[in-house]
Amino acid sequence: MGQSEKGITPSRGSFASRFGIIAAAAGSAIGLGNIWRFPYLTGQNGGAAFLLVYLLFIIGIGIPVMLSEFVLGRATQRNPVGAFKMLEPGKPWFLVGFMGVLAAFVILAFYGAVAGWTMEYLANSVTNAFSGKTTEEIATMFDTFLAHGYRPVFWQLFFMFLTALIVWAGVEKGIEKYAKVLTPMLLVIVLLLDFKALTLEGGTPGLQFLFSPDFSKLSSNSILEALGQAFFSLSIGMGTLITYGSYIRKSENLPKSAVIVSFSDTLVAVLAGVAIFPAVFAFGIAPGSGPELVFKTLPMIFQQMTGGMVFAALFFILLLVAALTSSISILEVVVVYAMEELRWGRKKATLIATLVVSFFGVICALSWSKTASWIIFDKNVFDLFDFAASNILLPLGGLFIVIYLGWFYGKGRVWREISNRGTLSARFLHVYMFVVKYVAPVAIAAVFLHGFGVF
Ligand code: TRP
Repeated sequence: MGQSEKGITPSRGSFASRFGIIAAAAGSAIGLGNIWRFPYLTGQNGGAAFLLVYLLFIIGIGIPVMLSEFVLGRATQRNPVGAFKMLEPGKPWFLVGFMGVLAAFVILAFYGAVAGWTMEYLANSVTNAFSGKTTEEIATMFDTFLAHGYRPVFWQLFFMFLTALIVWAGVEKGIEKYAKVLTPMLLVIVLLLDFKALTLEGGTPGLQFLFSPDFSKLSSNSILEALGQAFFSLSIGMGTLITYGSYIRKSENLPKSAVIVSFSDTLVAVLAGVAIFPAVFAFGIAPGSGPELVFKTLPMIFQQMTGGMVFAALFFILLLVAALTSSISILEVVVVYAMEELRWGRKKATLIATLVVSFFGVICALSWSKTASWIIFDKNVFDLFDFAASNILLPLGGLFIVIYLGWFYGKGRVWREISNRGTLSARFLHVYMFVVKYVAPVAIAAVFLHGFGVF
């Protein structure tokens, strides 16, 4: 690749020099997936057994896929489509990148909707709207909000506007500086919630639910959901981390980074579970409530805390920032793709991508009101988008990425990238190659086919 080629995206160089890879990738990984999606899926899929399978997938599939994305991104210095075009010119591999761009649209559509809910709840915290309400009343509050229609749409568009503003200006660097401080702060608040939850009367069955596995509750669909959640939470399978990998300095230790990011992400999810489930049981909320679970549970915990209103406001602000550092990483994939492959300017790419995402986002946000009657495969639009992205597009993307790395990229080139051209030891290289060649592809394919009832 010549110098002039690299000159297409002058922003890439400066991005690389200041971007702490761990802060950036963790900022992408830690988000609504940990606080909202993980507890609700764990609740729907029976608790501890689901958690166990999830952890297995993080270690056996998630970390290897993450490392593979870092390797491809840093080696090619490209967006996901460009990376495959460069490595395999004239072959259909670039379609894997396209699938990632498509997944970005689908994910961002429903992600923006949920981020909008957190903005409503931030507003509710500031106005002390949870105070003195019963569990029933808190639940009704959320249902009424969703059924309202235009309010969720307003917040969703507002969130997309913020995301677009950051990506438009290309100030991800600035955001990451805040994320470095605010993500640990989110962790501290979650720990405080844990402490409160653990002292709730009647909360112990919640811990049992989360940590004492009952495998009879595990359906083949639950296993697919666990796989989808591992991909969603780690931000893998659609090329986000190929894009971020292209910003990583040549001196960074890729395997170590993948492990640290995955570990932090999983820690936040588990701690969120420890906060939610005791409260779910203490207040008599159904663990399988679905996407609304945390929005009906958390206000009840805040209500029991001294200074709960302040904690609630702080929590929802931090969650919003966590959601923003994730949503910019999704939009960035589309924008960098359009900049490098279609030669659009950053502003044009951001504007068009945001308009398209917002259009589908509005349909998602209205899934409990105006578009509630649009039921496809037994799911409303929101659930359909979530399912299609997390359980189909991401695992499929991950499958192709590990197959490519294991069977086509070549062990020598893998070694060069993970050892930084021999400056780091890479003793586990053969284990990693074995995993990306056999373990991960077979596991993903098996879960996938099983989940869809093929065997
Ligand atoms: N992982 C983020 C979360 O947990 C969401 C996210 C950001 C994502 N980038 C992604 C999900 C790429 C899948 C693919 O909230």
